[in-house]
Amino acid sequence: MGVFFRSKNNVTESGVLKVLSQVMDPDLGKDIVTLGFIKNLKIDESKVSFSVELTTPACPVKEDLKKQCEDLVRGLEGVESVQVTMTAQVRQAYVAPSKLALPGVKNVIAIASGKGGVGKSTVTANLAVALARAGAKVGLMDADIYGPSIPLMFGITDKPMMEGDTVIPVEKHGVRVISMGFFIPEDQPVVWRGPMVHGALTQFLTQVKWGDLDYLLIDMPPGTGDAQLTISQNAPLSGAVIVTTPQQVSLIDARKGLKMFQSVQVPVLGVVENMSGFVFGRGGGQKLAEENGVPFLGSIPIDPRVVESGDSGTPVVASFSNSESGNAFRILASRVASELSIAHSKYHSPVAKDLSMEWQS
Ligand SMILES: Nc1ncnc2c1ncn2[C@@H]1O[C@H](COP(=O)(O)OP(=O)(O)OP(=O)(O)O)[C@@H](O)[C@H]1O
Ligand SMILES: [Mg+2]
Repeated sequence: MGVFFRSKNNVTESGVLKVLSQVMDPDLGKDIVTLGFIKNLKIDESKVSFSVELTTPACPVKEDLKKQCEDLVRGLEGVESVQVTMTAQVRQAYVAPSKLALPGVKNVIAIASGKGGVGKSTVTANLAVALARAGAKVGLMDADIYGPSIPLMFGITDKPMMEGDTVIPVEKHGVRVISMGFFIPEDQPVVWRGPMVHGALTQFLTQVKWGDLDYLLIDMPPGTGDAQLTISQNAPLSGAVIVTTPQQVSLIDARKGLKMFQSVQVPVLGVVENMSGFVFGRGGGQKLAEENGVPFLGSIPIDPRVVESGDSGTPVVASFSNSESGNAFRILASRVASELSIAHSKYHSPVAKDLSMEWQS
């Protein structure tokens, strides 16, 4: 086949692929040719063009990979111009047949902790907006039935529209959102029993018109009650992110949350330390991650702009995108997306023979 693509300048498809195979994806630990990332390779005399299809648009080293590709191909004899287009195709996670099916949703990620008030909702809101701004299709399901805080953090006052029996999520900051807060007046407490919570969350998963999503993030309520049970047993989770503050009490609860996901064989993508800094200290999140053999995803500084932005309906990653906390959330989003891509290659690929064994090891 190479013969047909041989240009007058002797630039060949195999020659181009050979140099490109020196470019490694740092997360997946393989070269981008073996990973099948090179698409639409065209050679027109001395002009070479191709696209590199990554596993997430939020890839932290996208620009670096692009430059490596350009430099290597430009270095080939006979090549005068190189055009590299970076694209992304988020992979569909493996879903066990026992879980609820969400057609069109590629990955479902729970954001959890054992303890209340550590910043789960804040982290979820900023992660969602950061991923959407990177070019991903993102949904956010607020699973906190008793104390939903996502409508306030997103500044949503509209009620969702219905389409027959299905609810259309409200789109804001590029994210499709659903929350119990849309259905219940703010000053009215929700006094539901367990089965009703279960029913509501199941409807949020299956009777909401999510459409095509790369990532559906679930903001988990605090504790380990009915909602946690429903989500961990029924939602097709591709991974969980554990939020903790640096303090000891929060860490103990975070460990419980982490173990709960591991016990139901949901890969823990890693631990985030929120409100890190001189007030509460730092380093606890990293220790928790190390002790449990899961990645440490980074820390978010304690910052009044995070509160202010949350209260005014635009998450800090959009309102002060270049602040220290805005940057930290953006980096976190890339890390989560990368860890998910790694989890895909380990747990979600059809060749992972015995999933449960891999997870336990
Ligand atoms: N990095 C941060 N810096 C400063 N304040 C923060 C930060 N992260 C969260 N907060 C604030 O801490 C409070 C609790 O955050 P949030 O509601 O996100 O926590 P939560 O874990 O979802 O709570 P709950 O368990 O009640 O659902 C909020 O007022 C929020 O604005
Ligand atoms: Mg919350």
